[in-house]
Amino acid sequence: MAIQSPEGTFDLLPDEAEFWARFKATAAEVFGRYGYVTIETPIVERTELFVRGIGEATDVVSKEMFTAISGENLKRLTDGGSVKSSSRLSLRPEGTAGVVRAVVQHDLVPQGAAPAKLMYAGQMFRAERPQKGRQRQFNQVGIECLGAEAPSVDAEGIIMLMRFFEAVGIPVSATRLLVNSMGCEECRPAYREAVRAYMAEHETQLCEECLRRADINPLRAFDCKNERCRAVMDSAPKITDHLCDSCRDHYEAVKAYLDAAGLTYIEDHKLVRGLDYYTRTVFEVQVTEGMGSQNAIGGGGRYDKLAQEVGGRATPGFGFALGFERCVLALRAAGVEFPRAGTCDLFVACAGDEARPQAFALVQAVRDAGRAAEQDHQARSLKSQFKLANKLGARYVITLGSDELVTGTAVLRNMETHEETPVDLADVSAIVAALE
Ligand code: HAM
Repeated sequence: MAIQSPEGTFDLLPDEAEFWARFKATAAEVFGRYGYVTIETPIVERTELFVRGIGEATDVVSKEMFTAISGENLKRLTDGGSVKSSSRLSLRPEGTAGVVRAVVQHDLVPQGAAPAKLMYAGQMFRAERPQKGRQRQFNQVGIECLGAEAPSVDAEGIIMLMRFFEAVGIPVSATRLLVNSMGCEECRPAYREAVRAYMAEHETQLCEECLRRADINPLRAFDCKNERCRAVMDSAPKITDHLCDSCRDHYEAVKAYLDAAGLTYIEDHKLVRGLDYYTRTVFEVQVTEGMGSQNAIGGGGRYDKLAQEVGGRATPGFGFALGFERCVLALRAAGVEFPRAGTCDLFVACAGDEARPQAFALVQAVRDAGRAAEQDHQARSLKSQFKLANKLGARYVITLGSDELVTGTAVLRNMETHEETPVDLADVSAIVAALE
């Protein structure tokens, strides 16, 4: 059998790759209006960045990271040796940790500087069990704003994400925006204890995984997919009843900005997100219909301690990421037509082999003049050349045969209106002008 792509990975075939390019361009355009500029970080980072940044108890780090290993280190391991922890590498499961690492490494937010507003787009890798909307390699577009803790940063980020969804064709009415606050290191420890105590009271109803993680991070139980755990956690203490004054003020201010912008949201006290770096605001955007269980198309929040966690100075941060493939599923569910890859302004057909050199030269000249042109390369009949022109979506066709070669003139046919215009084959600029 022919070799297939690895489990959970997919090819973006030309039409999808075209849509991915437009998707990124729309992101750059929308996010650019909010001052975001592009950063590119490596796909592979030191494993310890994710362990320290995302958190050892998270599924992403404890179960889902792909380890990258050099041939030399692999040999060392198979020979019974070990690999230095600084040489342990992982494929990035998300983009935030790498961006924050880059900000710290290059001092992109010197003390007192304006915040760094950074955006990225690219592949992420998580060794999850593949299912609809859950892949092992997937594409994210994300933003990170480092250096400002004002609630207006969070609110403008959330608004910007919803504007982006609209711009790519996912209407706000098809989505649900969930928000919550995770508190900070002042108020969260007491809340965590309250949840731990509540879980201890309901020990017999919780799954082993939740109980095992209760010591390290009991809040992970809010994420558990087990129905019984979900029912128990529905009545668990709410973080919003345990926020300190400054976290409450921050949360209220974010919501006030969202209200003023006319955004509808649902406060969800069980929204804790799957990554441990969050402080204060967290949010998620879900699609309400046709997506199954993997219905989150984007999410993010504030992470005011992450820069310190990876060894930098205290730098507040906020960001989000959205999943390209899940957005495609949402658009397909909504019946949206996708653009076709490739354009063809002019197709030059040949009524006989003797016209091929002239067709070749004309196609080349039109391309040199900046338009997309094509011809047959498979000795097709004239009829099947016309079929090919249709398949390519050619807007105009010129047919060259012995008459055209003799007279030096031809007919330019508009494939939509069927209008025919005589053209002088020696006057390429007039032909190109007629393609407008
Ligand atoms: P996340 O919620 O883990 O957040 O991922 C963001 C989005 O990526 C999800 O909402 C989903 O659309 C998509 N996604 C995640 N995992 C998969 C998968 N296995 N297959 C397909 N799509 C997937 C983050 O990654 C954070 N870094 C977001 C953030 C940025 N927080 C602060 N700054």
